[in-house]
Amino acid sequence: MIVKKALKTSLTLNESSNMKLGVNNQKGVKTFQILGAILMLGLVLMAAYFMSVGSRVDANRGAGVVIIYRKVEEEGLYRDLPEEEGLYGDLPRATITEEGTNRSNDSCSFELVENVPYDLPFEINSTAAKPLYQAWVRLLDLAQEKVHVASYYWSLTGKDIGVNDSSSKQGEDILQRFERLLAENVSLYIAASSPTLATKSRDLELLEEKGAHVRKIDFGRLTGGVLHSKFWIVDMKHIYIGSANMDWRSLSQVKELGAVIYNCSCLAKDLWKTFSTYWDVGYPNATIPFPWPLNYSTHINKHRPLEVEFNGILTEAYFSASPPAFCPEGRTHDLYAILSTISQAQKFVYVSVMEYFPTSRFIHPRRYWPAIDNALRRAAFNHRAQVRLLVSCWAYTDPAMLHYLRSLRALNDPRVPISVGVKLFIVPLLNHTNIPHGRVNHNKYMVTDKVAYIGTSNWSENYFTDTAGVGLIIKQNSTNPQRRQQPVQEQLKDLFERDWNSKYAVNLEDVQGQKDCNWEADPEVN
Ligand SMILES: *[C@@H]1O[C@H](CO)[C@@H](O)[C@H](O)[C@H]1NC(C)=O
Ligand SMILES: *[C@@H]1O[C@H](CO)[C@@H](O)[C@H](O)[C@H]1NC(C)=O
Ligand SMILES: *[C@@H]1O[C@H](CO)[C@@H](O)[C@H](O)[C@H]1NC(C)=O
Ligand SMILES: *[C@@H]1O[C@H](CO)[C@@H](O)[C@H](O)[C@H]1NC(C)=O
Ligand SMILES: *[C@@H]1O[C@H](CO)[C@@H](O)[C@H](O)[C@H]1NC(C)=O
Ligand SMILES: *[C@@H]1O[C@H](CO)[C@@H](O)[C@H](O)[C@H]1NC(C)=O
Ligand SMILES: *[C@@H]1O[C@H](CO)[C@@H](O)[C@H](O)[C@H]1NC(C)=O
Ligand SMILES: *[C@@H]1O[C@H](CO)[C@@H](O)[C@H](O)[C@H]1NC(C)=O
Ligand SMILES: *[C@@H]1O[C@H](CO)[C@@H](O)[C@H](O)[C@H]1NC(C)=O
Ligand SMILES: *[C@@H]1O[C@H](CO)[C@@H](O)[C@H](O)[C@H]1NC(C)=O
Ligand SMILES: *[C@@H]1O[C@H](CO)[C@@H](O)[C@H](O)[C@H]1NC(C)=O
Repeated sequence: MIVKKALKTSLTLNESSNMKLGVNNQKGVKTFQILGAILMLGLVLMAAYFMSVGSRVDANRGAGVVIIYRKVEEEGLYRDLPEEEGLYGDLPRATITEEGTNRSNDSCSFELVENVPYDLPFEINSTAAKPLYQAWVRLLDLAQEKVHVASYYWSLTGKDIGVNDSSSKQGEDILQRFERLLAENVSLYIAASSPTLATKSRDLELLEEKGAHVRKIDFGRLTGGVLHSKFWIVDMKHIYIGSANMDWRSLSQVKELGAVIYNCSCLAKDLWKTFSTYWDVGYPNATIPFPWPLNYSTHINKHRPLEVEFNGILTEAYFSASPPAFCPEGRTHDLYAILSTISQAQKFVYVSVMEYFPTSRFIHPRRYWPAIDNALRRAAFNHRAQVRLLVSCWAYTDPAMLHYLRSLRALNDPRVPISVGVKLFIVPLLNHTNIPHGRVNHNKYMVTDKVAYIGTSNWSENYFTDTAGVGLIIKQNSTNPQRRQQPVQEQLKDLFERDWNSKYAVNLEDVQGQKDCNWEADPEVN
């Protein structure tokens, strides 16, 4: 059965390369034969690998097998063997949406939302997204029947972390609004990660006492990761998704970016399926179903994005998910969404993430993991796309990151031209020294000339192999003559450029001696 699955994987690749050949006719039959030979070789290797894996874990069929199998499948897809350069490297460019879309007649409204930390002024009249706090208040005001929240941990009051600071007010207000909803008989379903980071927080107990349904999902046991997704579904038709944790600092001190979509039951129901994959393993000794029952599968994905109106503009959208064991049939894996987004870019790829490591982070010994790094290098080299990476730096940054960033940047060569820029975004601490883990850019998004991607994962291996995260991928038609506003990609690009050109974004060369990004504190650096 496992081998059959391997066959299927290869067939999927085969289909796509066929499509590529169709598009790229001049390359002709010869290329196809070579590809075919490579595929066969890959297939044989893969099958052998699967069989050895299969026999190793025979005694423990079930979740263990799924995880290992999925990892192997991932490696097959993303590992950078030379033959895959041709096979996989350029592949997604040819497969954009030719496979069709699924229409919804919802009239959704979409807005980007962000939290700009206190005392982080940008230029007057610079662009800004809607404040996250306002968006959360509005969503909770709209709620009439039920609210689903997928979250990492809850820490909405200053008391939760023993801090007395006026900037916790908004978080405390949000918690009270959740309590009020329960009093109004709105059902509240909360999936959170176990064990929790917020050991002193009583938020979830409080809500549970008032009637909330809370499940703590033991991702450590299930996948070796954590539940790191952050999204809300309100009345099965409004959605929030983004980088913010259920943490008061996300409403005042931490820089966050997300999106809210109103009146969009089609997407809400689809995101609820991902919520259900967490919820339904939220009991002791649960195992991850394999395969997931058919009702968890989706028709909305990279190959068939949903076609739906956002603010009157025809839009293509889908959700991705990770880890692969939490991608039922049809669900696009988050890493695949990211890699294909990068490889489809023709003009630019702008990325804003908190952490960027072409390695694993939480398994030891560490492994090198260049999946995204290679995709960015290819975009810059093969497609001459302008690549810009804006990464966060704060007191807790692992200084090893700087080396990988320098390595990526070393590709930059204006004479060719190959354009790769890397900057570090530093949120000044100022006098907010009483707030631990506060002042940081926590964004996790990417924008290209084609697509906006809003995610919840740091960019390193474990976020895609064992940690639960989600992504929202949006493509709007910028040539629609009736549009009254910019397409989402352009709005997000404006936000990126605001940050990139701000005084908080520091060139790699200038990072030494930056006060709130303490490289010198670490003897290993330089
Ligand atoms: C569109 O979605 C529906 C279910 O929502 C599914 O039955 C149908 O096959 C999909 N159509 C296409 C073309 O994928
Ligand atoms: C949207 O589609 C549903 C059925 O799919 C239909 O009942 C409804 O009337 C449609 N609404 C509009 C505004 O076309
Ligand atoms: C900011 O925008 C306002 C309103 O459009 C305008 O009056 C003002 O001059 C602008 N200020 C600057 C510094 O550009
Ligand atoms: C928090 O600080 C304010 C003044 O900054 C003070 O009035 C208040 O009593 C403090 N609260 C607690 C619980 O310490
Ligand atoms: C909530 O439900 C309870 C029990 O079903 C009922 O007594 C109460 O009136 C309801 N409250 C509201 C605000 O609907
Ligand atoms: C959602 O749809 C309702 C009913 O069509 C409309 O009254 C409301 O303004 C819409 N909300 C948003 C945020 O667009
Ligand atoms: C879970 O598994 C452990 C160890 O196998 C067992 O001791 C425990 O009773 C199980 N718990 C439940 C609720 O099944
Ligand atoms: C799928 O069906 C099962 C059994 O009816 C149900 O318990 C589960 O909630 C459903 N899940 C989804 C995502 O529809
Ligand atoms: C996008 O714009 C092109 C050119 O104006 C048009 O042909 C196409 O139908 C539009 N597609 C969508 C999804 O609006
Ligand atoms: C921090 O500085 C601002 C002005 O820059 C001031 O309003 C605020 O009270 C100060 N906060 C603390 C905790 O010192
Ligand atoms: C990302 O990485 C940082 C540093 O390891 C960590 O503190 C943070 O919790 C991670 N997750 C998120 C949500 O960024």
